[in-house]
Parts: sequence; structure tokens; C-alpha cells
Amino acid sequence: MKKKTLLYGLLIVVALVVVFVFGPVMQAATKTDRNVLVVGCDAAFPPFEYLDEETGELTGFDLDLMRAIGAELGMEVVIKNVSWDGIIPGLLAGNYDVIASGMTITEERQQVVNFSDPYINAGLVIVTRAGDNRIKGPEDLAGKRVAVQINTTGDLAATEMQEKGIKIASIKRFNHATDPFLELKNGAADAVVMDLPVAGAQIKANPGQYQIIGEAFTTEEYGLALRKSDTELLAKINQALVTLKANGTYDEIYRKYFGE
Ligand code: ARG
Repeated sequence: MKKKTLLYGLLIVVALVVVFVFGPVMQAATKTDRNVLVVGCDAAFPPFEYLDEETGELTGFDLDLMRAIGAELGMEVVIKNVSWDGIIPGLLAGNYDVIASGMTITEERQQVVNFSDPYINAGLVIVTRAGDNRIKGPEDLAGKRVAVQINTTGDLAATEMQEKGIKIASIKRFNHATDPFLELKNGAADAVVMDLPVAGAQIKANPGQYQIIGEAFTTEEYGLALRKSDTELLAKINQALVTLKANGTYDEIYRKYFGE
């Protein structure tokens, strides 16, 4: 009888220790997790996200912006470099909380993720080898080999042109946004369909190799993508964007990557 009472006593002590000691510790652990903002990006999309060869750091417009948002929210920012093709599934799986990857806000993506307010405008352009004047607009892609990054709006645009009856010879889809440009340089493609700022950065990095044909033929807005359930974080990020635009931080980051 006495032994049993002792046992019960011991159990109660253990239970109290679990509730009062480990409870707060575990809560603190989850709290610190919420103080870390894990960001997923495909860091082969200069000037938005890329590896700075000199410093070995992931950098770019989107990542500077995310770090500024983190600072604003008092959250530590951790950047994960992931493949573009699986970037939305990775968000949904909880591998990161925000996608900052030059992602265009599209209705299709809005079915599965929430986007922040737009943070920059972009549009698609056709890029050819410098001096190749056969292509003057989308119609001239008939009979030509077009290179794009897979599952991007560039891919979608080229696919739609094909569906609308422009007889593109082939659409070559690559995992990294930089690959279509190599394909073009090598003569294995005749044109690239790409976001204008990214095409601009490629032209700058490879002087005399490429040219942009005409003007952007789409208007697109980039947004940060979050899980649909993360509405509180979304509101905070939108608020931070407003603050960063008002206090000049946004402009500073903009100038750093795009000049005046
Ligand atoms: N803006 C285009 C899209 O949303 C291309 C984005 C590609 N981003 C990247 N980091 N590779 O489809």
C-alpha cells in the first residue's frame, strides 16, 4: 500500500516536471522557430537571386529585400537555394516559409499559394544572338528553336504562342534560367524567352553576345509566395514592404541592382 502511494507520488512529480519545466522550454523552441524566416529561391536568376562568386554568398535584389523584411520583422533570415521546378511543392511541404525567386503572380499559382503585394514589375522579352536579325517579334519564332526555363512564364508564353498557331520548331526547356542563354550562345537555339531584367543582366555579363528584340511583350508583377495558411506572416510581410518603400530602403536596394 505504501509502495503504491510512493509510486503515485512519483508519477505526479514527473507529470509536474513535464508540464512546468519542459512545457515552457518546448514553447520557447517553437517561438524561436517563428523568429526564423526560411526563404526558398532558385539562385540562378541574376540580378534577383544568384551566387556571388567573389564572396560565395547568395545575393540579389530579392534576397536583399527579404533580409530587409526580416530585419523589419525582427526575424533571422535563412536562405535555401532550391530547384525552380520543385519550388512550390517545397513551400507546401514546409521546407521554407517564403518563396523569393522572381516569381510572377499568376492566377494558376494563386490557386495553391498566396502572394504578397507585388514588389517589382517585369515583362518577357525575346533574346537572340547579337546581329541575328531574322527575328523581329513573336511571329518570327515560326520555324525557330526557342529556349526557356521550365515552368516559367517564359515557358508558358512560348507554349501559348505554339498553341495559337505560331509554328515554333521546338521549345527547349531547361532547369536553370542561365541555361537557355548558353544554348543560344552555342547556336543550339535561335531565341530565348525570358524576363527582361534577367535578359539585361545576361547581356551585361556577356558583352556583344546577345540582343533584346523590341519591347517586353507581357507585363508581369513579382510577388513573394507563402502557404495559404500563413495569413499572419503574409500580413506582416506586406506591412514590412510598405515600411521599406516609405523609408527609402526599397529604393536603396533597387538602385544597387538596377541603377537610377
Ligand atoms: N518570372 C518568371 C516566372 O515566374 C521566372 C522566374 C524564375 N525564377 C528563378 N529564380 N529562376 O515564371
